Amino acid sequence: MKTKTATTLAHPNIALAKYWGKREYGHNLPAVPSLSVTLAGMTTATTVTFDEALSADVLILGGQEASAHATSRVSVMLDRIRARSGVKEKARVVSANDFPTASGLASSASAFAALAVAASTAAGLHLSLEDMSNLARMTSVSAARSVLGGFVELRAGWPGDEKLAAQQVAPAEHWPIRIVVAVVSEGPKAVGSTEGMAHTARTSPYFPAWVERAPGVYARVKQAILDRDIEALGVAAEESAFAMHATSLAATPGLIYWTGTTLEVLAEVRRLRAVGLSAYATIDAGPHVKVICAAEDEAEVTKFIGAVPGVKRTIVTRPGPGARVFTVEEDRAQADSMASDSISTAYTTLDIDSEDFETESAKR
Ligand code: PMV
Repeated sequence: MKTKTATTLAHPNIALAKYWGKREYGHNLPAVPSLSVTLAGMTTATTVTFDEALSADVLILGGQEASAHATSRVSVMLDRIRARSGVKEKARVVSANDFPTASGLASSASAFAALAVAASTAAGLHLSLEDMSNLARMTSVSAARSVLGGFVELRAGWPGDEKLAAQQVAPAEHWPIRIVVAVVSEGPKAVGSTEGMAHTARTSPYFPAWVERAPGVYARVKQAILDRDIEALGVAAEESAFAMHATSLAATPGLIYWTGTTLEVLAEVRRLRAVGLSAYATIDAGPHVKVICAAEDEAEVTKFIGAVPGVKRTIVTRPGPGARVFTVEEDRAQADSMASDSISTAYTTLDIDSEDFETESAKR
């Protein structure tokens, strides 16, 4: 039996200028501009197969069937693709990550970027990168950025924006900075980013100040990237992250993503700077600290950050490629074998649950 299938790989991204908060005029539009770097070193692999034998969409995460709730979020994106392509069949979606999920390591970004590219390709749509980024953004704002590689920006949404896509500022080769991820816990975060930013926008007296200030910080981050100026980038990226967490701390009740270890890593980052290394911190909606540093400081930064008590491990990443397709329009046997080969060789330990897809479902 002929099926339509595609397998993609996508990577998470780390925002150097953060997005936090949505516009109130619908369409899942961000309230502030953001700029991120797509990371090599952490990967999501997703295979989508439209199959006339299926009576409903099926989502398999890390080898296990996902909940109805998570599957329905995926179906929303698949329905958009079916409406546009004329494909009628239900789909089987098989996805796996090689890094902790839903814990502030941006796994929703790579999950929905991979899904947008795999599903639109499997359906035979020849979408532009802009269209795929917009499709991903409708489900997860940060996923819009993971469709593209290197340094990627997404402007804030405005009234009348129904389409909003990320754009590449510079390719990965432009500047081989390192992001050393200090993993401080392996479990899922307590409050997902969707819920956290909505709570902050609703209750934090500092949220309007965040929205007003973020564009200026974003502009400095962008200029620093274009200039390859690690100090200017680090200072602006820290400002962005701390302002995002400050607005969340001031919510009612206050939202605390950090643990004691997060603070210990932040102190170590400052100590490393004091002894002359380039090391700057950024933190997303979770406890992990991502340390931005120059390539020549990677070994020392990794050694010292990895030695901070409470740090479980470090992951060294660098600018990497956008989402990309493995296979298109294979028959079922070939697709199944390619998908399982690529996943079993590339992913020896699969560590995934349905949290990313669950988290995103709250956005509707
Ligand atoms: O797109 P979401 O809902 O995963 O939100 C991402 C929010 C942050 O990771 C904290 C910042 C960002 O711009 O990625």
